[in-house]
Amino acid sequence: MIKEQLKDQFIKGLIDDYVIELFQRNMMPVNELMSYYRCAIMEVETKFKVLNEQFSLQYDRNPIETIKSRLKSPEGIAKKLKRKNLEFSIRSIEENLNDVAGVRVICSFTEDIYLLAECLLQQDDIKLIEIKDYIKNPKESGYRSLHLIVEVPIFLENEKKNRKVEVQLRTIAMDFWASLEHKLRYKKDIPQEELDRLAEELVECAQVSAALDERMEQIRNRMSRI
Ligand code: GTP
Ligand code: MG
Repeated sequence: MIKEQLKDQFIKGLIDDYVIELFQRNMMPVNELMSYYRCAIMEVETKFKVLNEQFSLQYDRNPIETIKSRLKSPEGIAKKLKRKNLEFSIRSIEENLNDVAGVRVICSFTEDIYLLAECLLQQDDIKLIEIKDYIKNPKESGYRSLHLIVEVPIFLENEKKNRKVEVQLRTIAMDFWASLEHKLRYKKDIPQEELDRLAEELVECAQVSAALDERMEQIRNRMSRI
């Protein structure tokens, strides 16, 4: 009997409207959450752009080559919560995930990475949550970058909200390496032996690229002394 009634309502289009309304009501907090993280990305990006502008004016050099930002998709967020056995809730996302908002800053020289990180961290509205220096201590894979998890305030109509942003600072060479190595991680159906050989070669390439970064920096510093 109920089934018949539902069928009847569905034909009349009433269920459709109900489902859409239910969906919209459930999506609201997610959309709001994503929007706050987008704002946090804008804040951090602007801070780096301002620093780049100032260095270009004061020292006639641009420490930043490019900035690439990304917002983790709701699917990506759900997968990570599941993988880490965490609760599915807005609060759990805010508390446990540090990389919903990601800002990647690419520099030519390693020295500029530390300079930019220092300038960002001394700003009084930036709170450092965590720092991971994979340049001084590269990962076993050979991965190098400086990671900062920072909290930044975003100012809304009537309130201030703090949001976490993952900042990855790397040189062009580190970024080149990381994007190739990332491809290997997602390659399916490679025989284990070949996978090991490729990973080994990538470790070697990471060392070569670190040496190149160092030499280029030395050349720049010698040139600036002339
Ligand atoms: P996730 O839970 O995966 O985000 O890692 P984590 O919380 O242990 O943080 P970690 O700082 O180690 O890595 C965060 C991000 O750095 C990753 O999402 C990648 O973008 C990058 N990363 C870390 N290790 C590697 C690596 O070995 N290769 C590449 N290509 N990227 C890496
Ligand atoms: Mg991550």
